[in-house]
Amino acid sequence: MSALGPLLPQLRTGVPGPASRALVDVLARHECPAITARRARRASALGQADDDPFVWEEAAGANVQDADGNVFVDLTAGFGVALLGHRDPRVVAAVHAQADRLLHAMGDAWPDARRIALLARLAGLAPPGLTQAILGLSGADAIDALVKTALLASGRPGVVVFEGAYHGLALGVLGLQAYKPAFTDPFRAIVHPAVRVLPWGADGATVRDALADGQVGLVLVEPIQGRGGMRPAPAGWLAMLTAEAHAAGALLGVDEIQCGLGRAGSTWAVTHDEVVPDLLATGKALGGGLPLSACLGSREVMAAWGASAGEALHTQTFLGHPLGCAAALAVLDAVEADDLPARCTAVGARLAAGLGQRGLAVRGRGLMLGVRLDVPAFPVARALLRRGFVVLPAGAGEAEVLGLTPPACLTDAQQDAFLGALDEALAEVRA
Ligand SMILES: Cc1ncc(COP(=O)(O)O)c(C=O)c1O
Repeated sequence: MSALGPLLPQLRTGVPGPASRALVDVLARHECPAITARRARRASALGQADDDPFVWEEAAGANVQDADGNVFVDLTAGFGVALLGHRDPRVVAAVHAQADRLLHAMGDAWPDARRIALLARLAGLAPPGLTQAILGLSGADAIDALVKTALLASGRPGVVVFEGAYHGLALGVLGLQAYKPAFTDPFRAIVHPAVRVLPWGADGATVRDALADGQVGLVLVEPIQGRGGMRPAPAGWLAMLTAEAHAAGALLGVDEIQCGLGRAGSTWAVTHDEVVPDLLATGKALGGGLPLSACLGSREVMAAWGASAGEALHTQTFLGHPLGCAAALAVLDAVEADDLPARCTAVGARLAAGLGQRGLAVRGRGLMLGVRLDVPAFPVARALLRRGFVVLPAGAGEAEVLGLTPPACLTDAQQDAFLGALDEALAEVRA
């Protein structure tokens, strides 16, 4: 598939096809059953279709090919990671070149040149003043570092988050999610003990109240809530949160793991609201498909960690992995060279207009869109998958929101084909 240009869906079998099914059977035997959803197999109008996963084999641009040779158009960008497109050639070239030189260095002990270059590059692209960073491998890593930094800088353990928040599921950050109680419930006894959840869009008085006892050191917010439903912060809200946090001696941290790096139409979604946060987490698209994330902060805030006295207070074996850093440098170059924020605005505006013409309510910005349906999103997503389009439901407590976070390379023809398939999928589910 790599030699081919952007494709419309090409389905050879039902979805999932026999090769995917056979692989998923093996998966079911050897992976913890909580990880990959296997749904009851049932007969369907297409004979061999069911709700099991399909197995990815290859991807390029906005296309994914499965184990049966079916070609799909991916409007999730693989959880938002493939912002430039899957396997962007510039990222692949950078990874190949790096693989020929150095695969692994020694994290906090002996750094490698790619990590140093990336840190300098991130500082140049960051919101004003956020010139230092702690690198991680996952979004959860970046939020983990952000929460630790805020505690050290403020001297306070409390965190304010907002309904629908999703910041990852690792133990250090699990208690911060307010997306689905079932994720946290079994682990309540061992999660962050001082989290306050406020309504999304909470007014000034509510925020002030939550900060009044001086226990909160961090107000953490997604400028556009992702998993919680592609909800942009109301106008002026982030500025108010910043002012209230600072008045109460707390820091304002933004989670740009999904909305950052141009997806929302500006390099950082907070800059749309003219807010400069104290801390910013980035991930997903940063590594161009390799696992990499970063928590950015100012020199003053990062100084709260103190200097390393020989053994780092915060590190991991693969900190600043050379392959991930090389890939991220290529991603950041591409974000600028392609004027990715403008591209996301233009592609997103066209997609939103097409959805609007169908009478669907669309929210979000750039290529981070939530579509309100009049039927549950899950069966619509499955009906779209059977037509060769990959999408995911989004929304906390709202079953009818479809999330769209496609790659910026999505073509007009792919968009139009998607809109046609959505018409069919909605008709099928409404019937
Ligand atoms: C806004 C946001 N923060 C944090 C995370 C967690 O990132 P990861 O899954 O890489 O740990 C996600 C993942 O979807 C996210 O959307």
